[in-house]
Amino acid sequence: MCGIVGYTGSKPALNILISGLEKLEYRGYDSAGVALNLNHQISLERAVGRLINLKNNTSTKAKLQDSACGIGHTRWATHGGPSEINAHPHVSGGLALVHNGIIENYQILRKNLEAEGYKFNSETDTEVAAHLLNKYLIKDHNLPEIALAKLMEKVEGSFAFVATCDRNPDQLLVARRASPLIIGIGEKEFYVASDVTAILEYTRQVIYLEDNDYAVLDSNQIAIYNAGQKVTRDISTIKWDLTQAQRGGFAHFMIKEIFDQPKAINDTLSGRLVASHADFKLLEIADWATQIKDLHRIKIIACGTAWHAAQVGKHYFERIARIPCDVEVASEFRYQEPIFQGNDLLICVSQSGETADTLAAIDLIGSQCLTLGITNVLGSSLSRKVKASMLTQAGPEISVASTKAFITQALVMYLLALKFAKLREQINPEELEKQLSDITLLSSTIHEILQSNSEVEKLADKYLDYKNYFFLGRGVAFPIALEGALKLKEVTYLSAQGYPAGELKHGPIALIDPSVVTVAVVQKEEPYFSKTLSNLSEVKARKGKIIVISDASEREEELRSVADDLILVPFINHFITPILTTIPLQVFAYETARKLGREIDCPRNLAKSVTVE
Ligand code: M6R
Repeated sequence: MCGIVGYTGSKPALNILISGLEKLEYRGYDSAGVALNLNHQISLERAVGRLINLKNNTSTKAKLQDSACGIGHTRWATHGGPSEINAHPHVSGGLALVHNGIIENYQILRKNLEAEGYKFNSETDTEVAAHLLNKYLIKDHNLPEIALAKLMEKVEGSFAFVATCDRNPDQLLVARRASPLIIGIGEKEFYVASDVTAILEYTRQVIYLEDNDYAVLDSNQIAIYNAGQKVTRDISTIKWDLTQAQRGGFAHFMIKEIFDQPKAINDTLSGRLVASHADFKLLEIADWATQIKDLHRIKIIACGTAWHAAQVGKHYFERIARIPCDVEVASEFRYQEPIFQGNDLLICVSQSGETADTLAAIDLIGSQCLTLGITNVLGSSLSRKVKASMLTQAGPEISVASTKAFITQALVMYLLALKFAKLREQINPEELEKQLSDITLLSSTIHEILQSNSEVEKLADKYLDYKNYFFLGRGVAFPIALEGALKLKEVTYLSAQGYPAGELKHGPIALIDPSVVTVAVVQKEEPYFSKTLSNLSEVKARKGKIIVISDASEREEELRSVADDLILVPFINHFITPILTTIPLQVFAYETARKLGREIDCPRNLAKSVTVE
């Protein structure tokens, strides 16, 4: 995700900004930039790609070294592709501003500003904030706290802003809502950052700004406000070391990304699910109404974890929207001779948007039918090849084992299925409203599940000596079993096979004995619950060990009658169950790998993005 660094003091700001941005590189980005305030002038430097490009651009300009006040940013594209024009800082008059987050009402703000004569250079949501802040500063005779308060009133969504203006060469203006921002305190100097990692080299004394705080700082003083009142905030001392801090205090990216999931869900819903649940926006397919009504069938193509998410998606499209849907692994699909018609829809799901086999599927289909991409990376090859592309807003996924991408892919397909169902009149307004309202509970429920991860950690301890696993599920729990098995094998190197629970007796049951662990995902919906329980009795009869993950807390006794261990997750509705039951499986894989001392974030033989066949 994007990163912010700011500095005001007496040292050369450029070096501090660049070294701070380097510390944030792990978050993933596709462009970077700095703005330096010097002699009542803003110098702007931006570059696409790695930070080294920005470093090379700035290293030849000695004058930049004289500035002791500036702001820097690494951008991970959301609104507008990765380009120099879209890179931050954005400028309005003599003001430069950087932003993390998403301004949800930027389109209307932009329209209004354009009507007032403001010119826009980028496709970003951020540029509106630069224009608004500059406008308010001029209007309010440079009273920064008033201008910041007005900006916060106008802007909807999540943001961390840092700005500097040529009229006040050592001043930084900052504001935050639902996006982190901290202020580091030095000797007659202040640092600003979206993540403590960026400034840990210089200071350990920090203020964590609270939601809706805004502040004005120069090299000597800081004034923090909230809702028009001056406030004081505690100073905390950071005790982490730098390596830990880059993972936000987590031991590995995988577990950090597992814990990022509540936020990933909120970000994916942001701008799509509006406060009133009556409607929801999927702007990417806003003009597809006629095609959706005429859809004949859907085909989803993906690899690995994305293929599992696609199987969850099939369930959504068929059960909610009543559209026939089938799913295929991209590496198989690409060598077939598929038959497509104009009213078919091909959906390709890929976290990276760069998986060679998945891209080949689109090349194979060409323009025979409608194509939709679901990807986590804006501007990726997938997003450019398809007719429309839906972005999961999971943020950069660094760990090779995919976690937050999976649940956001499933969520996007859930939203699509609801939209299709609405357009095809397959869902009544009350049911639609209920399901949209259920979706708003998803993030906090995942948070709740993660709070009890110590239960799963104990399981990992208990089963540490076991070498063979079966993961079972029926219906939509089957792809979850596949995903649980993939996660475990990727990061632990243990043998783990995912199976439809009903298939066990057709062969694999021959392998069950006391040395084999069966992990079963048992959803409360009937007939899946009873049928899966019967399959587990067959395992129990052969003295296999059984761990059950279920949302059927009211049937705990029945579950305990077959399970050696039981993890219960909350129930919201049947469509959300696959997402919730995935969380303990991710934690189980992670904790087992950690206890086995595996190289979790980069497992042997694996690559994050498989760009070869
Ligand atoms: O970037 P993609 O979603 O297209 O990647 C697909 C698979 O390579 C990926 O999901 C892989 O299976 C992960 N390592 C799973 O954790």
